[in-house]
Amino acid sequence: MDLSLLHDKWKQVLSEHNWQWKVLATVGCVLVATIYGPKWNKKRRFLKKVKQERERRAKSVRLMEGKVTKFKKQGSGADCRRILNMSLPELVKELQDGSVPVESVLYSYVNKALELDKDLNCVTVFLTDCEAQIEELKKIKTKGPLYGVPISIKEHIGYKGHPSTCGLAQYIDELENEDSVIVKVLKKQGAIVFAKTNVPQTLISYESSNPIYGFTCNPHNQSKGSSGSTGGEGALIGGGGSILGFGTDIGGSIRLPSSFCGITGFKPTPNRLSTLGIRPCIDGLQSVLVCVGPMARDVDSLVLCMKAVLCDEMFKLDPTVPPLPFNDKVYTESKPLRVGYYETDGFTLPNPGMRRAVLEIKTLLEAAGHTLVPFTPPRLDYVKYELFLKAILGDGGKTLKEKLDKNICDPHLKDLNIIVSTPGFLKKLMSFVLWPLYPRISKFINATRGASSVKDHWHHQTALQEYQTEFIAEWRKLDLDVILCPMLGPAFNIGYAKGLLVAISSTMLYNVLQFPAGVVTVTSVTEEDEAELKNYKGHYNDPFDRLFKEAVSGGVGLPLSVQCASLPYQDELCLRFMKEVETLNRAHKNIK
Ligand SMILES: *[C@@H]1O[C@H](CO)[C@@H](O)[C@H](O)[C@H]1NC(C)=O
Ligand SMILES: *[C@@H]1O[C@H](CO)[C@@H](O)[C@H](O)[C@H]1NC(C)=O
Ligand SMILES: *[C@@H]1O[C@H](CO)[C@@H](O)[C@H](O)[C@H]1NC(C)=O
Repeated sequence: MDLSLLHDKWKQVLSEHNWQWKVLATVGCVLVATIYGPKWNKKRRFLKKVKQERERRAKSVRLMEGKVTKFKKQGSGADCRRILNMSLPELVKELQDGSVPVESVLYSYVNKALELDKDLNCVTVFLTDCEAQIEELKKIKTKGPLYGVPISIKEHIGYKGHPSTCGLAQYIDELENEDSVIVKVLKKQGAIVFAKTNVPQTLISYESSNPIYGFTCNPHNQSKGSSGSTGGEGALIGGGGSILGFGTDIGGSIRLPSSFCGITGFKPTPNRLSTLGIRPCIDGLQSVLVCVGPMARDVDSLVLCMKAVLCDEMFKLDPTVPPLPFNDKVYTESKPLRVGYYETDGFTLPNPGMRRAVLEIKTLLEAAGHTLVPFTPPRLDYVKYELFLKAILGDGGKTLKEKLDKNICDPHLKDLNIIVSTPGFLKKLMSFVLWPLYPRISKFINATRGASSVKDHWHHQTALQEYQTEFIAEWRKLDLDVILCPMLGPAFNIGYAKGLLVAISSTMLYNVLQFPAGVVTVTSVTEEDEAELKNYKGHYNDPFDRLFKEAVSGGVGLPLSVQCASLPYQDELCLRFMKEVETLNRAHKNIK
């Protein structure tokens, strides 16, 4: 239904009927137009903008297809399969010594990404200035550490001439005047940025879907989600259409898609890498900080990339970033580690596959001479509600609501939209009524009210600090170097993520703590895991636990990961541990 349709109907009645009908039709139309007019108008404006953005996207696809076809015609496409099969360090070596041309590498990946995007819908725009980027590169005499490496970036990482929408229509016309710092640094180090990848609307979700660019499927099974919020990146790298990408993480947004799509991802200590020029998910949020970090197929690639971006150029462009280059001494150290581990955080009971992944790695680490120490993260339900949710929705969701109000809300954001649209007093009432039956849902709703006053907000800040101190004290008591713990997985069935904001307890803990953390894919769901899942009850046996069981069922063959974490600014130690996990696991399973 549209205003113009209503108008036509009214004119038809006027021309055909007597005066009583005419009056009735006029009054009726005025009433309907007043009630629904603004809504239709909003929808029309929204659809117009979305159409314009989709056309821009389609044009970039056509342009890139043209470039690839031209490139293939020149007979330079032969190397394609060999290039796509190379690891990042191998590729970098060949690019450096000139045995493989930059164009061949770029178009091999663009070609693969175009193919993959048709199935998964993971790219939001191809950056058609890549040839100009190559020209720029060739002007510089020394080859940077990422010379000629094609890189993809998450949609809200600023790129000159393109919008950073976060799946929100109001930002479509806001084209960036310059590249974000991380993009500038990547380019300076020789990388060629070729695509931006899909995200959830507002980014506060772990299902990458929005009304502008659509839904991103999982590369391992298209009936599953790719997770989020860096889901497009996860799908593109997991499907082989990119060798290195950048995402952001505020509650698990790098680690969740890495796990669901079977790759590796690293969330550094907050502000170790510059976030200047990246559109924030929630403006003004400082209680939990967004981190930018790399995603790739293996840990060596993450390390290579971290070494490249922790450079003077970044420290110069963003003087708020601590000028700490990559500490190779810590990374290459080989003394055995004291590893704290837990099978469950006491809040989300891992499903059989998640638990097996942790236990298998624990056994391998012990056999390799490391010391494994049981560790229990304190008070996870308190962290989840009182620290994390109350931070993300500190304003009761007002900022998010304001953003969503200018849009058509994505179906995968329905639950969040209800949360941010429900007034505080109603939430309080619902929380009270639900308490005896469903304490977890009650606490969840209660926490989404946010801070009640500035004093309450300060109290929350203090609570965050106190928890961090308490956690570090536990860590010190056991003299730990790193932590090994479960990682959420396998990929969810479509439509479940929106109701399971509670299930990301495994990842959000390290955002609250401001610790670096990464995931390594180590195994996949077996028939036995699936059979055992039938008995899954969770810690609470409540609607959330039942939903979680449904979300991960039917996942045989899908990738499973473990999570590794270390103390703040021990990013290199975390990566060293991830490398150890990957090496031991690959050796054990005879994977090259
Ligand atoms: C890909 O690499 C693996 C090992 O590096 C090798 O065994 C395989 O033959 C390669 N495939 C192609 C198509 O080059
Ligand atoms: C609800 O939140 C308030 C303020 O954060 C807290 O003091 C109270 O204990 C919570 N109530 C429940 C039932 O969790
Ligand atoms: C993909 O997932 C669906 C839904 O769970 C499942 O029915 C199907 O068997 C899976 N496909 C493969 C190839 O594993």
